[in-house]
Amino acid sequence: MHNRILVTGGAGFIGSNFVLQGMAEPSVAVLNVDKLTYAGNLHNLESISTDPRYEFVQGDIANRVDIRALFQKFRPDAIVHFAAESHVDRSIHGPEDFIHTNITGTFALLEEARTYWAALPQDQRSAFRFLHVSTDEVYGSLGTKDPPFSETTPYAPNSPYAASKAASDHLVRAYHHTYGLPTLTTNCSNNYGRFQFPEKLIPLVILNACLGKPLPVYGDGKNVRDWLYVEDHCAAIQTVLERGVPGETYNIGGWNEKPNIEIVERVCDLLDEMLPRSGKSRKDLITFVKDRPGHDRRYAIDARKIERELGWRPKETFESGLQKTVRWYLENENWVNEVTSGSYRQWIAKHYSV
Ligand code: NAD
Ligand code: TYD
Repeated sequence: MHNRILVTGGAGFIGSNFVLQGMAEPSVAVLNVDKLTYAGNLHNLESISTDPRYEFVQGDIANRVDIRALFQKFRPDAIVHFAAESHVDRSIHGPEDFIHTNITGTFALLEEARTYWAALPQDQRSAFRFLHVSTDEVYGSLGTKDPPFSETTPYAPNSPYAASKAASDHLVRAYHHTYGLPTLTTNCSNNYGRFQFPEKLIPLVILNACLGKPLPVYGDGKNVRDWLYVEDHCAAIQTVLERGVPGETYNIGGWNEKPNIEIVERVCDLLDEMLPRSGKSRKDLITFVKDRPGHDRRYAIDARKIERELGWRPKETFESGLQKTVRWYLENENWVNEVTSGSYRQWIAKHYSV
């Protein structure tokens, strides 16, 4: 078992869920390196902030001097790399940060990991892992009848976000192939759950619906995503870290394809049940808006490899996961108020103005 984990981007949505889940194991120590962009939030990690097994350092993964010093000080036996710019719409408005973090940042991390790993004693070298967390968006878009993405589907990224993640996946692959660095790559479908920044579909719709604001659905609302509850994703990453074969990639998904409009309607129904709105359904708030440029039509993951080889399957159903998620946003008003101040309002005003 890996006990000294250097996590990048651990203050973000999936990273903070992963750190909390990992720290529940008493032998695990975590060093969390995060730049704290708009998407990073240390409140997510308040419950472990004083735990001597946990340390946070604010830093940019592209800063090789800082990263080198952290490797030497912490001496990890694994890296789990979440840090990224992660929102497709932002990558369309301004791709540069995506190139910096997702490509240059991953390259810097790989270089420093390689130097550190090469100097380890033999037994530690073979146990070391560099786990790169990636996305299904690298595979491009599926037609209605196409089989879901498997690990051998050719890459065809369509947004600047997807292209930058694809580039990072290729670098990770090359560092295994060329230098023997023991890498693992996971490509996961859309996540949902607590701590997700409300620029993404599900939390955006929950918050707008609570405030009686329009629920923006791009295009005809029939784009399909394959949704996975974040804690299932974190468990899958843990499984790959412990049992995955170096150099391999693993697709992770929820076996749960749904058109966006169905997601939005289900969130409305749940809110109407949990917080009735004087005789009116929140579905009245649904507003079809201009489509995202180059909007991928359908994503779906074939997650048979990770099940067959490593024994992982999602535990949560979409219904139970969505209920937990909606309830969490309703019960965590302080978290919501804090993240929806200042720069969030500017983003919403810029992106959704006609
Ligand atoms: P997020 O945007 O919520 O969090 C990203 C974190 O990275 C933030 O805490 C941010 O401060 C940090 N960060 C950004 N640039 C950095 C830099 N240069 N140096 C250090 N830290 C930096 O993202 P997320 O949704 O938690 O996604 C995490 C990873 O999972 C990403 O690599 C993403 O591509 C991948 N992924 C996400 C999903 C999803 O549905 N959210 C699905 C599949 C894969
Ligand atoms: P998003 O949560 O941004 O994830 P991704 O683009 O990585 O899949 O979007 C999920 C789907 O919801 C995607 O098809 C775009 C759509 N969407 C809307 O219809 N309205 C919105 O306001 C947002 C943010 C997304």
